[in-house]
Amino acid sequence: MATPLTIADLKKMAQRRVPKMFFDYADSGAWTESTYAANEGDFRDIKLRQRVLVDMTNRTLETTMIGQKVSMPVALAPTGMTGMQHADGEMLAARAAEEFGVPFTLSTMSICSIEDVASVTTKPFWFQLYVMRDRDFVVNLINRAKAAGCSALVLTADLQILGQRHKDLRNGLSAPPKFTPKHIWQMATRPLWCMDMLKTKRRSFGNILGHAKGVTDLSSISKFTHEQFDPELSWKDVAWIKEQWGGPLIIKGILDVEDAKQAVDTGADAIVVSNHGGRQLDGAPSSISMLPRIVDAVAGRIEVHIDGGIRSGQDVLKAVALGARGAYIGRPFLYGLGAMGKDGVTLALEIIRKEMDITMALCGKRDIKDVDSSIIASRQ
Ligand SMILES: Cc1cc2nc3c(=O)[nH]c(=O)nc-3n(C[C@H](O)[C@H](O)[C@H](O)COP(=O)(O)O)c2cc1C
Repeated sequence: MATPLTIADLKKMAQRRVPKMFFDYADSGAWTESTYAANEGDFRDIKLRQRVLVDMTNRTLETTMIGQKVSMPVALAPTGMTGMQHADGEMLAARAAEEFGVPFTLSTMSICSIEDVASVTTKPFWFQLYVMRDRDFVVNLINRAKAAGCSALVLTADLQILGQRHKDLRNGLSAPPKFTPKHIWQMATRPLWCMDMLKTKRRSFGNILGHAKGVTDLSSISKFTHEQFDPELSWKDVAWIKEQWGGPLIIKGILDVEDAKQAVDTGADAIVVSNHGGRQLDGAPSSISMLPRIVDAVAGRIEVHIDGGIRSGQDVLKAVALGARGAYIGRPFLYGLGAMGKDGVTLALEIIRKEMDITMALCGKRDIKDVDSSIIASRQ
């Protein structure tokens, strides 16, 4: 295949390289996938203002997210089981992000552990926390993230229970993956993926195995993941987590104005407007459609970030124009990783950077810090 030029090209390549159940795991939303589709579709409804004959030299996309320098306002979103898109996936993606100068967020449900990622990076990464019922395990995770030098804790608030994803159920995907004859066949048809996977020892949840009480093997880890997401989690716990962590706290999964205000009151440093990439409440609005209202409600007191449906640098620019300080990409980097490993993640970031840079210039701006709603022509 010719050099991939778009995230859609990377997606096609990933589909050919990654076994079906893991490709589908990335490319799925809850139930009818209407929110998953709206996340992308609603970006297309936003039109940009074309400006001409303005000086376009010396452009910069550099800015900060939560006070930390970034080469462009993009972060890699936390994604579970990333090490199943490509062997050692989290370590590869973290290195690509570090070299590119954007934050990498490691999921609690990663295959490579916090310590694995710390061992291959030199700059701090961010850690995403799922709050489990076993609070000793949670404290231990927070302490491990601190010891690894993580520079932000991303608390995910929208997954106390799991939204049903039909593709995963039909594929018989379990957490961690168990391999039936059907799965073995799916893997056998992806020999390059298999060869890489045979070379690594990281094939289960690295942050959990050997760290949670009684979790020493694949059968106990499966029981742990099914029982541990805490349906009783509430705003009181957020204050407790903030205290345990003591560093910058980002609350992810905010889609409602009232929840955004509550997050500000709880002392979060930033929120991520997100519906978990359409994987939780199907029928919820797209992230980009809720962004302006949430930005208004937060009124500059903390940073507002966004994720969901970003597939180009244009989408990032639109999000920044509507008030987001930065945008996270989930599937775009997973497709890059599945397609080409670390180089694919770098390519995904390069594609996004180039699109953002050219679009910004054609909208008559030279500095991402000057991008605001004046570059939007219409929103319908
Ligand atoms: C395969 C996959 C796994 C994910 N796992 C997590 C996770 O472990 N923790 C989390 O907070 N969000 C998780 N998410 C949600 C992402 O962080 C992010 O909200 C979403 O991917 C953004 O949408 P996008 O994929 O359209 O960019 C996951 C998303 C995908 C696609």
